[in-house]
Amino acid sequence: MRAISSYITKHKNRFLEELFSLIRIPSISADSAYEQHMEAAAKAVQIALKDVGCTHTELCPTNGYPIVYAEKIIDPKLPTVLVYGHYDVQPPDPLDLWETPPFEPEIRETDLHPEGAIFARGACDDKGQMFMHIKAMEVMEQTGGLPCNIKFMIEGEEEVGSDNLEDFVRANTKKLENDVILISDTGMIANDIPSITTGLRGLSYVEVEVTGPNRDLHSGLYGGAVANPVNILTQMIASLQDENNRITIPGFYDNVEIVSAAERAEMAKIPFALDAYKNALDIKAVHGEEGYTTLERKSIRPTLDVNGIWGGYTGEGAKTVIASKAFAKISMRLVPNQKSEKITKLFTEHFKSLAPEGVTVKVTPHHGGESYVMHPDGLEFQAASKAYLETFGKAPLPVRDGGSIPIVALFEETLKSKTVLMGFGLDSDAIHSPNEHFGVFNFLKGIETISHFYHHFTTLHQANQ
Ligand code: BES
Ligand code: MN
Ligand code: MN
Repeated sequence: MRAISSYITKHKNRFLEELFSLIRIPSISADSAYEQHMEAAAKAVQIALKDVGCTHTELCPTNGYPIVYAEKIIDPKLPTVLVYGHYDVQPPDPLDLWETPPFEPEIRETDLHPEGAIFARGACDDKGQMFMHIKAMEVMEQTGGLPCNIKFMIEGEEEVGSDNLEDFVRANTKKLENDVILISDTGMIANDIPSITTGLRGLSYVEVEVTGPNRDLHSGLYGGAVANPVNILTQMIASLQDENNRITIPGFYDNVEIVSAAERAEMAKIPFALDAYKNALDIKAVHGEEGYTTLERKSIRPTLDVNGIWGGYTGEGAKTVIASKAFAKISMRLVPNQKSEKITKLFTEHFKSLAPEGVTVKVTPHHGGESYVMHPDGLEFQAASKAYLETFGKAPLPVRDGGSIPIVALFEETLKSKTVLMGFGLDSDAIHSPNEHFGVFNFLKGIETISHFYHHFTTLHQANQ
């Protein structure tokens, strides 16, 4: 399969230029001011899919942003791979922390990316990774042809909870029929330690509002005599974790999957340098649930984190005031057997019960989703394994990840197929943060590995028929 790698080497600069054009479109799904750019990004993805040889492409309207669908069916008897990805990106703020503007991609070297990394919002999450699949199709078409059927479903609302994708998937199960789903929207351990994500956490996300007096008050005239919503909110939040950093919501841990000692022993073999981890974040110590390692805490254990908190006076100088209201956004990452809706309900009941009489509490649920675990014994994992072995010279390690892609659990439920999460980003690529980047090496290796996957999957699938 030398043809694949030499084709990629030959066209590398054009691949990067094409990706840059897509990255330059600021497709921020969270901000309605970018609506036109969202449409433009969807259109650009559709054209790119047409250009690499999809025989049918369409922009499927939804109640939100369009879903790009494309396919090339070469033989109904051959297996079908469904690729999922997203063309929307996170808002880039805070802008002043970017070394170069977020939508003007630039290649710069970093310690972990000596061959250069593309710095831009969406470079890794997920335009760069999604685009690898479009280019892998080109590579296959130009080096002997696709070995099987291919379908693409690229959405524009992943970063805001995929609200319209569920209806689309449920309404189009026939159209989306496949033998395996392929997604590159996660990471791997290191450029010389390839890994495949075998687990994603679920998510329950709520916004809370604590209301005290009917107006902001002078903190001297009223301080000490009425409940201060900011004080109360912080006390309530603090009580959600105990001294062992376990979550105190009654029922929160009911049914939580107990990972076997054998699996934990396997996890302990995953290379993880705690000192490097701390150094990269400039922290003196890690912090988390008693009795678990850092890798376990961020993958197989559920969590509760405040993502934002505000209320009262936050401007320059000092204003003496007791705010009428205080707010926080709280996420809970969930593990197998915890159901997002149930956890949101348990949180709501418990949180309200914590409030003293002097305040009222409102809890508003946001998007959520279920966790996903795949066991690395299936044919799809084997096919992926062979592909990595060829391109990285090493078999990939199965690793459970801490992030969430809620749609993966829904795919399994509705389309009855397994998802292979072939992510090529690194944790240090700063997704969702200023200076997001994606290694040029990772981008090119990704294209190559994906192309090999199709060949191995087709062979294994046919041998299994
Ligand atoms: N690509 C990420 C998820 C991810 C990244 C999983 C790295 C594992 C490793 C995705 O775009 C994302 O940001 N998901 C959100 C959830 C979503 C419902 C907004 C998340 O995990 O916070
Ligand atoms: Mn993503
Ligand atoms: Mn994301």
